[in-house]
Amino acid sequence: MITKTVMCPHCKNESTIQGNPGEKIHITCPKCNTKGVFTFPEEKSESKTTTDSFSIEVAGLTKKYQDLTAVDNLSFNVRTGEIFGFLGPNGAGKTTTLKAILSLIHANSGEIKINGFDIKKDDIKAKKNIGFLPERVAFFENLTPLQTLNFFCELKGEDKSIVKPLIKEVGLEDAINRKVGTFSKGMVQLLGIAQVTIGNPSVYILDEPMGGLDARWVKIIREKIKMLNEKGATVIFSSHILTEVENLCDRVAIIDKGKLIAEDTISNLNKYLRIKPRLEISIPGLNGKVPDVIRDLEGVEDVDAKDDTLFVNCESSVRSRVITNLEKAGLKIAGIKTIEPSLEEAFVKLISTGDGGT
Ligand SMILES: Nc1ncnc2c1ncn2[C@@H]1O[C@H](COP(=O)(O)OP(=O)(O)OP(=O)(O)O)[C@@H](O)[C@H]1O
Ligand SMILES: [Mg+2]
Repeated sequence: MITKTVMCPHCKNESTIQGNPGEKIHITCPKCNTKGVFTFPEEKSESKTTTDSFSIEVAGLTKKYQDLTAVDNLSFNVRTGEIFGFLGPNGAGKTTTLKAILSLIHANSGEIKINGFDIKKDDIKAKKNIGFLPERVAFFENLTPLQTLNFFCELKGEDKSIVKPLIKEVGLEDAINRKVGTFSKGMVQLLGIAQVTIGNPSVYILDEPMGGLDARWVKIIREKIKMLNEKGATVIFSSHILTEVENLCDRVAIIDKGKLIAEDTISNLNKYLRIKPRLEISIPGLNGKVPDVIRDLEGVEDVDAKDDTLFVNCESSVRSRVITNLEKAGLKIAGIKTIEPSLEEAFVKLISTGDGGT
């Protein structure tokens, strides 16, 4: 039996439901009586992470723009049924890679398969049932969201009855009859999220789906991605913000300057990217000067001083020597704090050094 918390797309009320893997149940929101259907995910985790089937396979992808190599011999695979984060700083090559996967641009070399079909040899089969959210979403400015989504339903042969609930689900119900040309960037983004789900794609390729949105909408989009994945969809989405992908992705690939620098689960990345904890030592009278006894100490990676605080990055085995050396040098320690590094710091260090950061 699986227990799930679901959010009503209408009033956003959260309620708890129970069912068996794969079971489809009809739900009525206890607060506003909106009716809906929920399918419990098939047994996840083990089968998810051990599956050998890939929804997206990228091998040796290279894309050059004149002298610039935007994507450099990049290879990674997205497993069927997983949420895959595609992370990298601005200009890393994320959009170029996602466009190449969809053959929207011609790569210089490399092989790409979607659902096992080569995008060059079998492009129609490969691109069937893909949902793509581009980095810069654009719609006809003189249509309302209702007209816009009706239009996409017509294109995809979907029943238009899904449109109003979809608009509510992404929080645009108050703007349902406004022209899209009057929308803010975030509102257009939300409409893009609604549009991409029309036709129930099995694979979603989302380029910065949370870009430009405030925290409330980021949360809604995270929930939406989770829900799509729980219904069986495979999702790859790009981001340059690590915290956006934490707790959402099964695995992530990190690229920088077009090259893959890591591909793993968040927890494994956390383990091997770990930056050493930082000591913050309070020394009255330090006056922003790093004591020589610390600067030259073996095992100290980095040291800095500001006012009466000394910041030391070192192996944990060296910490006691740092303290003893300071005391021996006659400095009076008023307090010590150990600051654990965040994965975000590790990510920033990784992309700034271009190696494993350890
Ligand atoms: N059409 C183009 N012509 C020339 N250079 C390009 C073109 N498209 C992308 N580039 C360059 O390729 C590199 C990768 O760009 P890309 O848009 O893939 O990065 P990104 O990781 O998506 O960045 P961001 O997080 O800012 O969206 C950048 O240096 C960019 O300037
Ligand atoms: Mg981009």
